[in-house]
Order: sequence, then structure tokens, then C-alpha cells
Amino acid sequence: MTQSGSAHVPQHVAIIMDGNGRWAKQRGLPRIEGHRRGVETVRAVVDAARELGIRYITLYAFSVENWKRPPEEVSGLMGLLDYFLKRELDNLIKNRVRLLTIGRTEALPAGVQRELARVIDATKDFKDWTLVLALNYGSRTEVADAARAYATAVQEGREQLADASWDRFSRYLYTAAIPEPDLLIRTSGEQRVSNFMLLQCAYSEMVFTPVLWPDFGKADLQSALEEYGRRERRYGLTTEQIKSGSS
Ligand code: FPP
Repeated sequence: MTQSGSAHVPQHVAIIMDGNGRWAKQRGLPRIEGHRRGVETVRAVVDAARELGIRYITLYAFSVENWKRPPEEVSGLMGLLDYFLKRELDNLIKNRVRLLTIGRTEALPAGVQRELARVIDATKDFKDWTLVLALNYGSRTEVADAARAYATAVQEGREQLADASWDRFSRYLYTAAIPEPDLLIRTSGEQRVSNFMLLQCAYSEMVFTPVLWPDFGKADLQSALEEYGRRERRYGLTTEQIKSGSS
């Protein structure tokens, strides 16, 4: 059953996909097998999110810190990303899902950059569903990049310092064209945000699940939405104010 249009369906769900390594270790497999299974989960969760009426889904696929992992794991992850982009293009087009990225994608291998450009271009006109991949992403790097772009705009007279505000500054973040996440999910039992969308999640609800990412499925996503539906989002107001509709 689709929940599209329901008040409890978040518009934007961001996910920290964690636990691939532990999933593999529990089975005596190399870590890359966990990531390989993780890619299958990505497809299933993107499909499930659309079926549940979630318009934006952001997945933390590779952080700026992940370069410090063993070189064979980094190249394995890049290979999986390349494979995912090649394999998913038809599915994204069939389901009318637009692909966007956040992060310093210019530092990714040239082949991955080419695939990204191809998929982004082929899906750019889709409006209803958006998959955002966070690639070579880190919140602090994003703020540094935005600060540089904002300072350049001030120097060039496109921004006025006197007008500095969150509203103006946030236009320089990677996420300028994306609504803030309503719900942040982290799998594998870890309860931290690890340099992920720190500013954008200022008012996001957070759900932490012990399920390892390769085992995460539609039912787990639905449970997170149910938990989200039980939360009261107050944005600094009182319950009474929320109930009376004042803002
Ligand atoms: C965290 O598990 C997961 C990652 C660092 C990478 C996530 C990548 C994928 C799911 C596959 C590639 C993605 C796409 C979109 C094609 P971990 O390795 O930190 O797990 P552990 O904490 O159990 O070791």
C-alpha cells in the first residue's frame, strides 16, 4: 500500500548506511562482500522509499574520512559505485527517479565521475522522486566550501555582508536545491551522526536501528516511518502552540 500524501510520510529521509563490515565478519566473509550486499539493499530501499511516498532519499555512500580505509576497500567501494551506476540507470529511468550528488565528487575516480554525469544528465528532468548520493561528503568540508563560495560572492558584490543570514548562506551548501531531511536513520546500532548533514539535520527526527545495512529492508523502513509518525516536531515551540497551529 502506498502512503503517498499521508501526513506521517516524511518528504526527505536521509540514511547513514552502517554495518556492512560487521555483516560480512559475522559470516566469515571479506568486508567487500558486506558492501556488495549493501548495494543490493540500496536498490531495494530506493524502490521501497518511492513505494512509501518518500520524495527524497539521501544515502551516505562515501565520506571524506572513508579514504583512510585500506586501499583495497576504497577501490572496491569505487568499483561498486561504478557498477551500481551502470546497472541502475535503466531502473531509475523506468521509475522516474532523478539522481543528485552532494560532496566533492571531483575527487572521485574519472570513470565514476563519467558515470555520475551520465546518470545525472539522463534523469535530470524527473521531478517526483530524487535519490541523493553523498559521495566524498563531509559536513565540515561542505561548510568550508560554502564559506569560500559565499566569501567570493561577497568580494564580487553578489552578496552583501549586511544581509548575512542562514537563509542566504544555506544557498551555498551542496544541498541548496534539496529540502532538509525530516528523518535521519542510522543502521547497525551506532548512535552518532558522523559529520553527516550536521546543519541540515538541525530539526530532523533521528531513528537508530540495530539492523545492519545489508539486512535492512522495506519493513525496517516502514518501522522507522511509524516511529517518525509518533514524534512531535516542535521546532522550538510548545506543544500547545503546535496544536493551535501558530508558528
Ligand atoms: C558502512 O559500513 C558503509 C560504508 C562506509 C559504505 C556504504 C556503501 C555501500 C552501501 C555500497 C556502495 C554504495 C552505493 C550507493 C553503490 P561499514 O563498512 O562501516 O561497516 P562496519 O561499521 O560494520 O565495519
